[in-house]
Amino acid sequence: VLGKAHQALTIKREPPLLTPAVYPGDRCWRDLTCMDFHYETQPVPNPVAYYLHHSPWWLHRFETLSNHFIELLVPFFLFLGRRACIIHGLLQILFQGVLIISGNLGFLNWLTMVPSLACFDDATLGFLFPSGPGSLKDQVLQMQREIRGARSKPRFGSVVRRAANVSLGVLLAWLSVPVVLNLLSSRQVMNTHFNSLHIVNAYGTFRSITRERIEVILQGTASANASAPDAVWEDYEFKCKPGDPSRRPCLMSPYHYRLDWLMCFAAFQTYEQNDWILHLAGKLLASDPEALSLLAHNPFAGRPPPRWVRGEHYRYKFSRPGGRHAAEGKWWVRKRIGAYFPPISLEELWPYFRDRGWPLPLPL
Ligand SMILES: *[C@@H]1O[C@H](CO)[C@@H](O)[C@H](O)[C@H]1NC(C)=O
Repeated sequence: VLGKAHQALTIKREPPLLTPAVYPGDRCWRDLTCMDFHYETQPVPNPVAYYLHHSPWWLHRFETLSNHFIELLVPFFLFLGRRACIIHGLLQILFQGVLIISGNLGFLNWLTMVPSLACFDDATLGFLFPSGPGSLKDQVLQMQREIRGARSKPRFGSVVRRAANVSLGVLLAWLSVPVVLNLLSSRQVMNTHFNSLHIVNAYGTFRSITRERIEVILQGTASANASAPDAVWEDYEFKCKPGDPSRRPCLMSPYHYRLDWLMCFAAFQTYEQNDWILHLAGKLLASDPEALSLLAHNPFAGRPPPRWVRGEHYRYKFSRPGGRHAAEGKWWVRKRIGAYFPPISLEELWPYFRDRGWPLPLPL
């Protein structure tokens, strides 16, 4: 039923290669070694990560300890009065800033900063504005004094607002009950939600730290015979994810290249679990301009589309600064592990597309 292409894809596949070295409830958070791996194996590393990865071991231990301090203790500073709250805000923003600089994790960290802004009240931020009679600060103080004076009996609007605030507070407290119970449970579930509205969730990034960086590299060939030993395979290059070892890791924060991000995660799984990757392969076989606009380099630009496209699995490691590979201008050293998906042609893919109700990619 699935058609010739699917059979071909299943039969020609090499044995599954993918056993990412992940450990449940990663012990690297306990023995403080997580940062030995994180910079190299995070979804989309940037140049700062390259250098931080090679910092001394004691710095990596310190980074992991600081992470525990800021993520486990500092949030409670919010309840310890105004001064502790300001310290919380400063530490949290500093921490998120370091994360933004050390990886392309942008928007998540910018969002995490937002609640900390509430710690900086008018008195804390007052130094930003000139003082003295008639100044902006003076006018605001005057207005605040007037409002306080006029606040004799509560108005209808403010009563409604207060009622709405309290109701929201109660709702959030109630929705938090299963989340807190889960947090305290010995069989804690991560990255899950507890109600149909998906508000107040258990979300955790980096529960486990991948020990090795595995990439999927998409390649095409103009050769009529994909198995011919003289077939030349050329790499497609993504905008941000590692590909050509000589290309400097990218900087994209706070922009999020979604396709690059998904490619990093698809590498942990098989193509059967990510059928969108064959969809992309079909578009490449048709030289679809929209799909190609998501890539940085199309080796078939200005030429007829490739006859075959395949996905290859590679292990990537940062080169050592000052080492032989770095001297050759290489940021990465890579080694092929095996096939991710076998060579496929457009004709072979058509039944696969038809099965899924996807529009057929047609060569231009
Ligand atoms: C493709 O190349 C392989 C290896 O050289 C060869 O065995 C096979 O017969 C070729 N197929 C075609 C259709 O030419």
